[in-house]
Amino acid sequence: MVTDMRIDFAPLEGITTYTYRKLHHKYYGGIDRYFAPFISPGPGQGLSVKEVRDILPENNGGLRVVPQLMANHAPTFLAAAKVLAAYGYQEINLNLGCPSGTVAAKKKGAGFLAYPEELEAFLEEIFADHEVAAGQIGISIKTRIGKFSAEEWPELMQIYNRFPLQELIVHPRVQKDFYRNRSRWEAYADARRESRNRLVYNGDISTVEEYLRFCSQFPDEEAVMLGRGLVGNPELGEQISRIQNGEDAKALDGKRLRAFHDELLEAYCELMSGERNVLFKMKELWCYMAVMFPDSQKTEKRIKKAAHMREYKEAVNAMFTSPEGGQGRIL
Ligand SMILES: Cc1cc2nc3c(=O)[nH]c(=O)nc-3n(C[C@H](O)[C@H](O)[C@H](O)COP(=O)(O)O)c2cc1C
Repeated sequence: MVTDMRIDFAPLEGITTYTYRKLHHKYYGGIDRYFAPFISPGPGQGLSVKEVRDILPENNGGLRVVPQLMANHAPTFLAAAKVLAAYGYQEINLNLGCPSGTVAAKKKGAGFLAYPEELEAFLEEIFADHEVAAGQIGISIKTRIGKFSAEEWPELMQIYNRFPLQELIVHPRVQKDFYRNRSRWEAYADARRESRNRLVYNGDISTVEEYLRFCSQFPDEEAVMLGRGLVGNPELGEQISRIQNGEDAKALDGKRLRAFHDELLEAYCELMSGERNVLFKMKELWCYMAVMFPDSQKTEKRIKKAAHMREYKEAVNAMFTSPEGGQGRIL
């Protein structure tokens, strides 16, 4: 097992906002880079105020952030990439993984993978840009392994091999899987054999045990990207680092999780208008975090049903303190 494994935080649209990223970094270590959720600029449109706010360096102070674009039109991609580069970002990530039906129908995200010739022409145009060609703007890709079937993967890999990517992040599912089925490790093994670009694995590593299982299969990896598992257990990066250093992973620290949660809630209350919007945001987090509280289904339901802040806070309090959700019983 590589001892200095790099751990990147995957982008989760709507969840890993700049507020979330900043507070995660304040409370937890173990993460090398935070990938920002995708920005999808339209032709001739710049970035919106909201999109700029998310990647603005002063809102991301102290973190290593990689912004992500989703596009299928090279001039649109390049124009947005240059705006991001002007904010100081040297690596721009291209999203070829989003499985959403509406996105795929527009030939974007994982939907673009069904058009390999167009994808290749798109990449050719991007890499012909003089700033990209000169290495002033690095391009990385986060990809699924196909639209319909893993049989598409060898051709896609050949295309990626033609370009000097900063890195190729592989989430080995096809678009049609959405998040169903397991990640296809055999497709990642193919990438390990064939890829000329530096690889990063992503998908379904949500516990230290899953991480160790992955490492036993792929002992020479230098980096992994974690998404839902880290949102569920914000300490996962630290736990993995501890294991790598030969220490005990240690149980999740409930007090720290509570403090992180409370500060995030406070920050969203300040930033967002309307209790409903804040509650929506926080409840989404609990879809992932509740797994850390064994036998907490009832309390989780209370959180999800909370219509007002007072109810929400009481339910969260119960999650952290009552026997069925509670403190000391966190995994
Ligand atoms: C709610 C949600 C939002 C996501 N948003 C993005 C996104 O903006 N960009 C992206 O590349 N992937 C996005 N993803 C995919 C994740 O980055 C990641 O590839 C996927 O969850 C698999 O990794 P995991 O099993 O470690 O979570 C999203 C996934 C979820 C569940």
